[in-house]
Parts: sequence; structure tokens; C-alpha cells
Amino acid sequence: IVTEASENLQVECYVIGGFVRDFLLGRGNPKDIDIVAVGSGIELARKVASKLPGKPQVSIFKNFGTAMIKHGDLEIEFVGARKESYHRDSRKPVVEDGTLEDDQKRRDFTINALALSLNSSNLGDLLDPFDGIGDLERKIIRTPLAPDVTYSDDPLRMMRAIRFATQLNFTIQLQSLQAITENKERIKIVSKERIVDELHKIIASKKPSKGFALLHKTELLPIILPELTALEGIEEIEGQRHKDNFWHTLEVVDNISETTDNLWLRWAALLHDIGKAPTKKFHKKIGWTFHGHEFVGSKMVYKLFKRLRLPLNDKMKFVQKMVLMSSRPIVLSEDFVTDSAVRRLVFDAGDNVDDLMTLCEADITTKNPRKQKKYTNN
Ligand code: CTP
Repeated sequence: IVTEASENLQVECYVIGGFVRDFLLGRGNPKDIDIVAVGSGIELARKVASKLPGKPQVSIFKNFGTAMIKHGDLEIEFVGARKESYHRDSRKPVVEDGTLEDDQKRRDFTINALALSLNSSNLGDLLDPFDGIGDLERKIIRTPLAPDVTYSDDPLRMMRAIRFATQLNFTIQLQSLQAITENKERIKIVSKERIVDELHKIIASKKPSKGFALLHKTELLPIILPELTALEGIEEIEGQRHKDNFWHTLEVVDNISETTDNLWLRWAALLHDIGKAPTKKFHKKIGWTFHGHEFVGSKMVYKLFKRLRLPLNDKMKFVQKMVLMSSRPIVLSEDFVTDSAVRRLVFDAGDNVDDLMTLCEADITTKNPRKQKKYTNN
């Protein structure tokens, strides 16, 4: 239908971006298809809709020059091929009409710049001017332009590079890693919502530690989640050392991710030790202590959620509660839960997060019967 519509309008058109990448990688369940027209994307969308059964509505975003048709569960996005240039203080590009290659050049990564022809003259041909296919095979995240330009133009791409490397288990090319580190401060012009979207995707990946290690390496982490960076390092006093709570946290997140897909449990694992940085003390008699870090940590969760503009809802309370229970030996109603309660609870509840939520409603009391003080989650 798209081929026919584009021939009627005499414009060339191509499928481009994530759909082509995921199709070649054999990743199923596409949610959207991006189609680029060398001409008006909006006109092409209108023509396609007029040919589809039921003549679906076309949503037009005039400011962006794009249009979208919903087809079952699929969103089909149409855009005219374009050239982009950027002002330094904004992610919003100045746009002008361009060729297919201009459009491929403006894209973030070579693996996202692959175009599949929908024109009858070369139907199904892959247009790959930047060797995206080679990068898919070599499992490399690389930019079509000089990395410094791509990341400086749109700093969200620094997060996207790390997110794709984590989701696909790819390597970010060295020049890209260096450019991300050099441009790290520019992440500040990206909205919190966008950053959180990418964080969610990293946390939902099979091995989230890969993404956090990259955020750490590129020095984006102290800008986005300074509470985590503060956990790094091992101090030694009088021959006594404590563990490195940053790398320990990443291990816990990976462990939990093997057991549960629940995003908020994974967040809880990520944040379970954040109270340890501000509570760290060395006592001559007992050595290193992090006394009260669970309470401090659960309060920090609230501040962190607020700063990242995450909703302060029951999910946030759940994360707080999990952090509160994370490592203090506690009694949960009749169930005795020892150290590393988050891990234990996840293990016990498996993927049944509803059970876990119910468990969290129980009163929490300390292990020491002489201090049977009730803790609430305030
Ligand atoms: N794109 C870009 N720079 C961005 C965002 C997107 O160049 N900051 C381009 C890429 O070519 C990308 C396409 O727009 O493939 C579609 O973007 P999006 O739907 O956000 O990502 P996908 O690649 O489709 O991947 P996913 O759906 O996993 O986010």
C-alpha cells in the first residue's frame, strides 16, 4: 500500500531506523515503523491512510513535519527526508528538506540509519551508506558523523548510545566513548523525562550493570545519579576496609534482574545502599559502620524521585520500603528475614510482586527484642 501511495505521489520512500535494525537483529514485536519520504511525509501519510481498510485517522504534527497512522497495535510514522542543524543550547533542530542520505546522516547511529526501499524499482534494497550492517555484525555503536557532532547536536544520544549498548550487548566505539565523556555536561539540556526513559530501559535490560558501568566510565553518572557515584571507593583505616558499595550495588541489580522483570524492584535494588555514603563512619571499636543507612536511604529515594520528576506515587513508596528493609536484620510479621532482605524477598516472592507488596504492608520491627520499636515508612 505504501509503495502504491508513494508511486501515486511520485515520491521515493523508505523504512528507516529502529524497525530495520530490529528486523535484521531478529528482535520481534515492533511497536512503530518509521517511514521517510523524499518529499512530504504528511502527504504520503494521507495517501496511505486513504488506501488502508477503514481509512484510519492521520495525526499530523505540523511543527515537526511528521504524521502518524495507528494500524492495529502498530504506529506508522511518516517524515519528509531532512537536513538538520542545531543551536548550542537546544535539542530542537533547524530543519530543511534534504535527500535520503542527508536524512541518514542526521541520525544517531549507523545501525539506526539503515534504510529499506519501498520503491518498486528497488523494492527491499538496503541503503547503507555508513556500513550499519557491518556494525550490526561487529556489535558496535558508531555515529554516522564525527561523534563530537552527533552528541553535541543532541546530547540525549549519549544516553541512547549507552542504552542500546546495554539492551543489545554492543560495544560503544572508543571515539564515541571519548566524545560522550567530553560532552557530558551537555546532558543538562535534556529533559528529566527523557533521561528517565533511557534509565528505565537500561534498568529493564538483561544486564543493567553494563549500562551503569558505562554511565560511570563516561562520567555521566555523577551528573544524573550522584547518589550512586558517592558509593564508589574503598577506604582503609587502621587496616580495616569496607566493600565498594557502588560495584556491590551493580552486582545486586544484576542478581535481582535474573529473578524479576519488575522495574520497581530493580530500582529498589539499584538504590538499596544509597544511604551508605552519608552514614559512613569509622569507630575505633567496631570498625566501619553505616548505621541507619536504610532510613536515610529511603528518605533519599523521595528526593531522588522528585529531582528526576518520577511520580511520587505508590511505586515510589514501594521502592522506599524496599530500601528501608534492604539490609537491616528485620522481622516481618512471623517471617524472619536476615541480611540482604531485598534479595531474599525477591527470591521468596519470585515474580509475584503483588505478594511482595502485601508483605511490605506488614509492620517492620527490629530483630533485637529489647528494641522492639516499630518502624513506619515515613
Ligand atoms: N533518532 C535519532 N536521534 C534521537 C532519537 C532518534 O537519530 N535522539 C532516530 C534514529 O534513527 C532512530 C529513529 O530516530 O532509529 C527512531 O527513534 P526512536 O523511535 O526513539 O528509537 P528506535 O531506534 O526506534 O528504538 P526504540 O524503539 O528501542 O527506542
